[in-house]
Amino acid sequence: MSIKILSVFGTRPEAIKMLPLVKAVDATDGLTGKVCITAQHREMLDQIMDVFDVRADWDLDLMRPDQTLTSITSDVAHGLAEVLQDYEPDLVLVHGDTTTGFAAALAAFYHQVPVGHVEAGLRTNNIMSPFPEEANRQLISRIATLHFSPTELNVENLNTEGVDQHVHITGNTVIDAFATTVRDEYAFKSAELAEIDLGTGRSILLTAHRRENLGEPMRQIFMAVHELADKYPDLQFIYPVHKNPAVSNLAQEVLGKHPRVYLIDPIDVEDLHNLISHSHLVMTDSGGLQEEAPTLGKPVLVLRTETERPEAVDAGVARVVGVDKEDIIAAARTLLEDEEEYLSMSRAINPYGDGYASERICAAIQEYFASK
Ligand code: UD1
Ligand code: UDP
Repeated sequence: MSIKILSVFGTRPEAIKMLPLVKAVDATDGLTGKVCITAQHREMLDQIMDVFDVRADWDLDLMRPDQTLTSITSDVAHGLAEVLQDYEPDLVLVHGDTTTGFAAALAAFYHQVPVGHVEAGLRTNNIMSPFPEEANRQLISRIATLHFSPTELNVENLNTEGVDQHVHITGNTVIDAFATTVRDEYAFKSAELAEIDLGTGRSILLTAHRRENLGEPMRQIFMAVHELADKYPDLQFIYPVHKNPAVSNLAQEVLGKHPRVYLIDPIDVEDLHNLISHSHLVMTDSGGLQEEAPTLGKPVLVLRTETERPEAVDAGVARVVGVDKEDIIAAARTLLEDEEEYLSMSRAINPYGDGYASERICAAIQEYFASK
């Protein structure tokens, strides 16, 4: 009898990291997969679904312009309750640390359906940062049955909290996606991106969206970028701006008029991965980009005060630079002016996976159900 698996996700990064797994589940004998998207994100999620060419079996379609953590949590829990009654899965797969992930895990737990947690065990151990992600992932670890950890450190984090049953080290599924996204001869799909000359000067990929950076920290980040662009005439910044109006309005206000800062719409993940390849370095507060850029040999300046992904920092290819304008400028200047420093941070390293995380997760699921 086939094991019925329901994969639930709702934001862009979850889709990028869950869709390789959805495909692997479909390709594994003895596993039957269905997909429920919450659409906590709408356009940014649909863009990724299109790239992977996957249609959801259920779409809770819950995004609202004024959504709150409470509204997302309650809409996911209510919506998923019906899907769980309808499909009666043997296992629910959730990802990481979003509110979709946490609320979906809670809904499954209430229905006494085991939860498999993909990207388990990342920690800052500061419950307020990133907010609310650190709480979300810790809470999921409390109620999940199967834990799929990208790295050895993530496994240790779980063991420290007493989570030591059914913990598997798998690598991160985001690395699986590279097999299909990065190509030597690549033509960008985004018209805005295709118009930018990436062959002259140095291009810096910028992304910023974190909730705890909204407001003054993000203003500091944007002012630092403005000053760096003024100081170095050979630099151009390419910033695919997150759809959150709290981000895009501020980006327009501070950076909108600079001729070498390109504020473009979110690009799909193939464009994004190939844009990393064409960049001199990456400045970001994103989680996923901290994993992707080192894999492609690009230095990362992390625009946050801490990270749950210390592996790249320990390997010397990423630096946590904080959210103060002067600190950001100082860190960027070192990388831009010190050739040796730049080269030492440009080594391609692979602490986050080897491209086979999804297969390992499927094997662990089979093993778990075979042993029951
Ligand atoms: C969410 C996750 C965060 C993840 C991020 C990835 C939570 C609490 N936060 O944060 O962990 O790092 O996604 O990007 O789960 N919007 C659109 N269209 C879209 C997407 C978003 O208009 O396609 C706008 C909406 O106005 C929405 C707002 O962005 O209300 C914020 O989206 P939300 O999912 O609540 O928070 P994020 O900051 O995106
Ligand atoms: N990404 C993308 N298009 C963009 C910006 C980012 O496809 O315009 C991808 C990026 O490659 C990474 C993921 O989105 O895989 C990261 O998402 P985000 O920064 O929104 O969330 P986080 O990783 O911080 O949770």
